[in-house]
Amino acid sequence: MLLYLLLLPAAIALAPDGPWDSFNYAPKSKTVYPQAVYKSVGTVSGSGKLVGNMGSATLSPSSWIALDFGIEVGGLVSLNFDAVGNTSSVSLSFTESPMFVNPLASDDSSYPAPNMTYDGVFTIPAPLSKGYWTQPSYSLRGGFRYLTIVSHSETALEISNVSCAISFMPHVENLRAYTGYFYASDPVFHDPDFLTKVWYAGAYTVQTNTVPLHTGRQVPFAAAGSWFNNATLGVAGPIIVDGAKRDRAVWPGDMGIAVPTQFVSTFDLIPTRNALSTMFAAINPETGALPESGPPLSQLGSDTYHCWTLIGTHNYYLYSGDDDWLSTIWTNYTRAIAFVEGKVDSTGLMDVTGLRDWGRLGGGGYNAEGNAILYKASSIVLLTASDLANYMGDESLSAAWGANATALKAKFNEAFWVESAGMYRDNLTTTLHPQDANSFAVLYNLTLSDEQKVAVSQGLEKNWNDLGPVVPELPDTISPFISGFELQAHFEAGQDDRALDLLRREWGYILYTNLSVQSTLLEGFTANGSLWYRSYRGYNYDAAYTSHAHGWSSGPTSALTFYILGLTITSPRGATWSLSPHINGGLPGAEGGFGTSLGWFGVKWALQDNQFFMEISTPEGTSGQVKLPRNGSVVVDEEAVDVDADGEIALTGGKHSVAIFS
Ligand SMILES: *[C@@H]1O[C@H](CO)[C@@H](O)[C@H](O)[C@H]1NC(C)=O
Ligand SMILES: *[C@@H]1O[C@H](CO)[C@@H](O)[C@H](O)[C@H]1NC(C)=O
Ligand SMILES: *[C@@H]1O[C@H](CO)[C@@H](O)[C@H](O)[C@H]1NC(C)=O
Ligand SMILES: *[C@@H]1O[C@H](CO)[C@@H](O)[C@H](O)[C@H]1NC(C)=O
Ligand SMILES: *[C@@H]1O[C@H](CO)[C@@H](O)[C@H](O)[C@H]1NC(C)=O
Ligand SMILES: *[C@@H]1O[C@H](CO)[C@@H](O)[C@H](O)[C@H]1NC(C)=O
Ligand SMILES: *[C@@H]1O[C@H](CO)[C@@H](O)[C@H](O)[C@H]1NC(C)=O
Ligand SMILES: *[C@@H]1O[C@H](CO)[C@@H](O)[C@H](O)[C@H]1NC(C)=O
Ligand SMILES: *[C@@H]1O[C@H](CO)[C@@H](O)[C@H](O)[C@H]1NC(C)=O
Ligand SMILES: *[C@@H]1O[C@H](CO)[C@@H](O)[C@H](O)[C@H]1NC(C)=O
Repeated sequence: MLLYLLLLPAAIALAPDGPWDSFNYAPKSKTVYPQAVYKSVGTVSGSGKLVGNMGSATLSPSSWIALDFGIEVGGLVSLNFDAVGNTSSVSLSFTESPMFVNPLASDDSSYPAPNMTYDGVFTIPAPLSKGYWTQPSYSLRGGFRYLTIVSHSETALEISNVSCAISFMPHVENLRAYTGYFYASDPVFHDPDFLTKVWYAGAYTVQTNTVPLHTGRQVPFAAAGSWFNNATLGVAGPIIVDGAKRDRAVWPGDMGIAVPTQFVSTFDLIPTRNALSTMFAAINPETGALPESGPPLSQLGSDTYHCWTLIGTHNYYLYSGDDDWLSTIWTNYTRAIAFVEGKVDSTGLMDVTGLRDWGRLGGGGYNAEGNAILYKASSIVLLTASDLANYMGDESLSAAWGANATALKAKFNEAFWVESAGMYRDNLTTTLHPQDANSFAVLYNLTLSDEQKVAVSQGLEKNWNDLGPVVPELPDTISPFISGFELQAHFEAGQDDRALDLLRREWGYILYTNLSVQSTLLEGFTANGSLWYRSYRGYNYDAAYTSHAHGWSSGPTSALTFYILGLTITSPRGATWSLSPHINGGLPGAEGGFGTSLGWFGVKWALQDNQFFMEISTPEGTSGQVKLPRNGSVVVDEEAVDVDADGEIALTGGKHSVAIFS
């Protein structure tokens, strides 16, 4: 513990206490006990005593009990054997979804198999010893809500003190110590606290994905009937991975959503730094290609995920201002940019040849999604040009990258924009308008006008059913990962109503469906809401393999902060910031904020009787631009002010109030 503390930066102040704290899913203690008995079969007496560790339960021969921890948890299970026969053995099985509560099998994490029972059970062999027992670390289960205990015994088996020692966030004692918060009431949804809950569900999901270094899924995968989570995940820990149950590996694309979530909720950036360092350390010394995933998977051959590591580097630097780290990876970073820039040929577009991606079909050649991500990866160099250039002395390189990005944007519009559809096509020979590239084009400002943004936003809505957008480039699929970008794109297009409609449909389903864990966020599902995500695309028709705690599905958490509150930072650690609340989605108000190492950034706004009121708090010494969300006479700190033509006012750090009267 001490070792970890030494590695951490100076503590960031915590978010203020308030009614929002009751929506924080993170448990109060790192030792958690069952919250309910989900099911018992055979004669089990005193089963309720296992709830909250009230006493012991007795399982008669061949009976079993499924315990419900109430939320997604992960870690090593312990229990006490109070009475055992010498023939007794016990098996444990685990599952996230209640659909797979099964005395003979866990849900799947080692490998997807059509029988949906690949992983099997963990057996504690006979003869059992009386007393305290704890699960060996190699058999760690990274994510589950239900634990099934089966007695294989000729005599009664008495057990007590069933608990799970949470293994995620190993460097943090208090899992509820968030540095950010969000709070808003939804006047439309059946649960008025939905938006607050989904913000916290995203935050908790990313916590469950923040894991100790030596707890990765074993590769080659464990043989059928077992699982091993004792592989080493990178160059240092703790480290951020894609999912709690699986894959338990670093995936830079997933980080494109998960890391902004982490920034606005826990500011727990060291696991992100460790993940990025892992990717740069594994760069191909000949070509400059970065791997698609971290070890032990160490998947290769993805141009988009290569770019996601570059985008992740920008995000980490923007949030942390960690110059020392940047200088250690700078050489490899520039080689990695050169690798993808080198794929731009005489057409002016990147020819995507590293075909692996987030699961979508198509994607190769002169592909819109790949080029949009390349644009983001190379153009963001501009945003931090002065900082990077000053620090690294690379002004000319930065300018050359910028010029290439500008040229790419022009080519992108020439090649992919389809005026009649008001959307971008997937490549030069198709009429398919993909969800991913269209969302990225708006979000990353590959569009040339505001009208184009609105048209794309409208076009994307045509893919929706009651549960969200059905992905054109991966039929029968709803992808909360890509939808997280679409959500931001609607806000960027100024379509606040449409953004909130999407949020309620898709995450309203994810958070409340009884097929899932109702606390962390599902990796994906089919158009009809089933768990057969990616059945025909790598997951072998195994619904039990789908993850229920995937950071890439947490898009609403940062979107609510960055758009509904409207608060973003525009230079490292928030020395400059921007505030642009999106108030046209029908919400009466919202409040929240986040901390960085410079201090607290908070905002609270309300619409009352057609007047707009806002309180702002940012660290002394910072400065920001406030984009006023409506017209009217503007009063700042009780004095009338003139607003420039862009509808913006400049503010310095400290506390301010803004009112707009119509
Ligand atoms: C189990 O216990 C019984 C009664 O004490 C004894 O007769 C038997 O040999 C034991 N069996 C084993 C496998 O230890
Ligand atoms: C989910 O709820 C439906 C409708 O109430 C019910 O039929 C179904 O059995 C529930 N499923 C699970 C896995 O609890
Ligand atoms: C009950 O379990 C907890 C958590 O694993 C452990 O610390 C404690 O020692 C156990 N109690 C007994 C009496 O063994
Ligand atoms: C399930 O399928 C896997 C892979 O096909 C196989 O290895 C395993 O034995 C099967 N499990 C059961 C219980 O049949
Ligand atoms: C993981 O644990 C299994 C079972 O003990 C063992 O066979 C394997 O060698 C371990 N792997 C690593 C990387 O330690
Ligand atoms: C940079 O890449 C080289 C391989 O070319 C590797 O040996 C080195 O560890 C990497 N540096 C860092 C800081 O990751
Ligand atoms: C173009 O896009 C379509 C739709 O995604 C895809 O089916 C096709 O394979 C792509 N063509 C190439 C050359 O990649
Ligand atoms: C700009 O793009 C061209 C390919 O179009 C590439 O050869 C060149 O290296 C790029 N410049 C930089 C600085 O990456
Ligand atoms: C987006 O691109 C347009 C030109 O295409 C430019 O005028 C505008 O400033 C850009 N917006 C941002 C936020 O960079
Ligand atoms: C839902 O979709 C999946 C995948 O297409 C399919 O296997 C399943 O039968 C569908 N379920 C219902 C109830 O239609």
